[in-house]
Order: sequence, then structure tokens, then C-alpha cells
Amino acid sequence: MKIIPGPASQGLAERTAELLGVETVPLAFKHFPDGESYVRLEGNVENEEVAIVQTTSPPQDSRLLQLALTADAAKRNGAIKVTAVVPYLAYARQDKVFLRGETVSIETVARMLEAAGVDAVLTVNVHQEATLQTFPFPARSASAIPLIAEYLKARGFAGAFALAPDKGAVYIVEQAKKVLGGECGYLEKQRDRYTGQVSVERKAYTVKGKTVVIFDDIISSGGTIVAAAKIMRELDAGEIYAACVHPLLVGEAEKHILEAGVHEVVGTDSVPSHVSRVSLAPLLSKELQRG
Ligand code: R5P
Repeated sequence: MKIIPGPASQGLAERTAELLGVETVPLAFKHFPDGESYVRLEGNVENEEVAIVQTTSPPQDSRLLQLALTADAAKRNGAIKVTAVVPYLAYARQDKVFLRGETVSIETVARMLEAAGVDAVLTVNVHQEATLQTFPFPARSASAIPLIAEYLKARGFAGAFALAPDKGAVYIVEQAKKVLGGECGYLEKQRDRYTGQVSVERKAYTVKGKTVVIFDDIISSGGTIVAAAKIMRELDAGEIYAACVHPLLVGEAEKHILEAGVHEVVGTDSVPSHVSRVSLAPLLSKELQRG
């Protein structure tokens, strides 16, 4: 196998290839003055299985297109199998028609990737695993939560209360609890489909004086974490932290989260940023080794 580092995940791809002990195939890329994407493979992929590592965090649309163009370039140059390794899979949250007239965006994305030559997808903590069953090729999602929890444990967070800000994140805190060894719980979240406004129902957990880590798959606007942190403060929790796999942190999200009383935000290099303290490379290399 050879790894093609996509424009959005160069560092992660290099680290993954290093752990696997495989070659990377350089990819030249640029945007034309009018904004169109361009890619060119600078190495040989003939008769090779290749894995393109390319996250699709903002700007999602051009990163998805770069991924599709790279898959096509690999196939045109003789690759026998193309696996798209997409740590953050954009559009996965629009996995059904919520309001009349909408589309199921993630299904369109999957069909686009298939048309470009993608044979399989490996992603990380996709919003809903069931989504992947609708893909026209094998697709699976690995969980980075044990890695994040190990990182937190090494920093002294053993025994912390792991809080899921909504029911969808319950599996996340259950995985975190296995490593951190403390308790876990969840809140009930409602989001207004028109305004995006988040409201969270208070639950009476005993978190008084305890260190709480609010875990989520994605932090985007930060609204979910802010609402959960408010409840933790009302319940007199001790120090509050936020951890996620995909730190999109749009606009002033981190500022709002810190202003809500959260000490620190921890994320992975699924979305490279200053909070990306945990690398996904060990997870991706292990998953790619499994085939
Ligand atoms: C949705 O249910 C996800 O799991 C996250 O909770 C959500 O995407 C976070 O978005 P935001 O930071 O904008 O509240």
C-alpha cells in the first residue's frame, strides 16, 4: 500500500505512513486564480492499493472535490484500489430529510466519491454509523475516543466525570469511562432546525466538586458545549473541560466555550488546529493494517 497525503491532511498522512512503514506519493495541488482545484500525482501508483488521507473540514466543498480529483488521478494512473481516509467526513450530519424539500447530503457525497473512483472509505467517529451502510462501497468508522481518553488519563484526568451533551454522544462517554474509570452521564439536547439554537435539559447528576469532561464527536459553533457547561456550573461541578474528535471550532466557538467556564478544549488532528493535541495516526495506521 502507498499513502497519498491529501492537501488538507499532509502531516497526519505522513505520520500514518511512517507508522505503517509505507511510502507516500507526493501530490502537487493548487487553486487556479478563479478558485478551481488542481491536483497532480508526482509518484507511481500503478498496480498499487492506495489510501488518500484527506479530511473534509472547512472549506468542505473544495476539500471534497480535491479528494474526488485525487481518487480519479490515482485510478487513471493505474491504482487497483483507492481507499479514502477521511478523518472528518463532512455532510454526515445531513443523513436524513429533516424538513420537507431537503436532500440527504451524505448520500450525494458518497455517490460522488464512488463516481470518482473511491472503492472504500475509512472515517473516524462519523456522526451516525448507520449512515455508512447506505454507501455504495464498504465504509467504516473507527473511534478516537480511547486515544483521547488515554491522553487525558496521562494528564491526570483519571476518575473524571464524562458527560455527553446529548444522547448521540452516550457511546462516546461509555468508551471514555472505560479508560478514565469515573462515572458518566448524558443530557437531553434539542436543536431548533430553523435557527440552530440549542437547548439542553438539566439532569440531576452528582458532579459537585468533580472534574467534568464534556465529550462530543464534533464541536462546531460551540453552542452544545456552552449549554452543557452552563448546566454543569449550575450543579457546582469542579473544573470543566471539553474534548472532541473533530474540533471545527467555527468563528469564536472556542472563545464562547472558555467564557462559559470551560478550562480547555482538547481535540484531534482530524481538523488540524491549536487544540489538536491527539494525533489520529496510530488509529488510522492500525485500521489500514486491518485492510
Ligand atoms: C450533533 O449532534 C453533534 O454531535 C454535535 O453535538 C454538534 O454538531 C455540535 O455542534 P455545535 O458545536 O454547533 O453545537
